[in-house]
Amino acid sequence: MPNNVLSVDDQKKQAARFAVNDLVEKGILRSGMRIGLGTGSTAMPAVHRIAELIGEGTLSGLLAVPTSFQTTIACEELGIPVYSLNSREIGGNLDLAIDGADEVDPDNNLIKGGGAALLLEKIVAYNSARFVIVADESKSVDGLGTKFPLPVEVVPEARVSVTAHLSRLGATAAIRYAVKKAGPVITDNGNIILDCLWAPGTSCDPRALEEAINGIAGVVENGFFTKIRPAVYIAHADGSVEQR
Ligand code: 5RP
Repeated sequence: MPNNVLSVDDQKKQAARFAVNDLVEKGILRSGMRIGLGTGSTAMPAVHRIAELIGEGTLSGLLAVPTSFQTTIACEELGIPVYSLNSREIGGNLDLAIDGADEVDPDNNLIKGGGAALLLEKIVAYNSARFVIVADESKSVDGLGTKFPLPVEVVPEARVSVTAHLSRLGATAAIRYAVKKAGPVITDNGNIILDCLWAPGTSCDPRALEEAINGIAGVVENGFFTKIRPAVYIAHADGSVEQR
């Protein structure tokens, strides 16, 4: 095996650190900005790199809006000032958001929510002037929805009715179960997650489905992100980072 093959974890770190450095070099990430910080194992090294740049004095006065308890805790531990999207200093919109993804198609449409944080992630992304995705190469796919299940956040009382509606949209939906807790995953917002798969070979239209799924009573949000065009940084096993 060639010795320049990065593990998936190292690709995640490479994409995250490369992206933050590049955004700072290009002046896209600057001191004083209001930034959204994503959730998951690729977003975390981006949060850590931002904390390093604050520590070095390269960045100052950042106002961060985390997208989950995971990211809030990381920011608090790293000394990154945390705000709500509703805070007076933030005013409901952000300059930039950085996050990971579960799948990225050739048009940079996404599936997100593998960490069950899709609701706040989407609110943050859709209210940011710029949106940046960092990912390892396994996340790049030709089409969405037939490999990584689409997470749909659902009010618990609507579990059965929403499952039936999703089936009419061609998806097989399964409750996401917790690890080290009996029963389903409960999101940061007190809801459950239905993970939805379309059969291999199905041509799934993520734009239409994002709308249609959110039209089902009891659905809080789904993990298709098609209404904002992110800049995407994908790290490869050879250490290179593709930007698209
Ligand atoms: C959490 C997310 C994550 O960004 C997504 O699941 C990717 O996670 P990871 O970087 O750990 O592979 O959407 O809800």
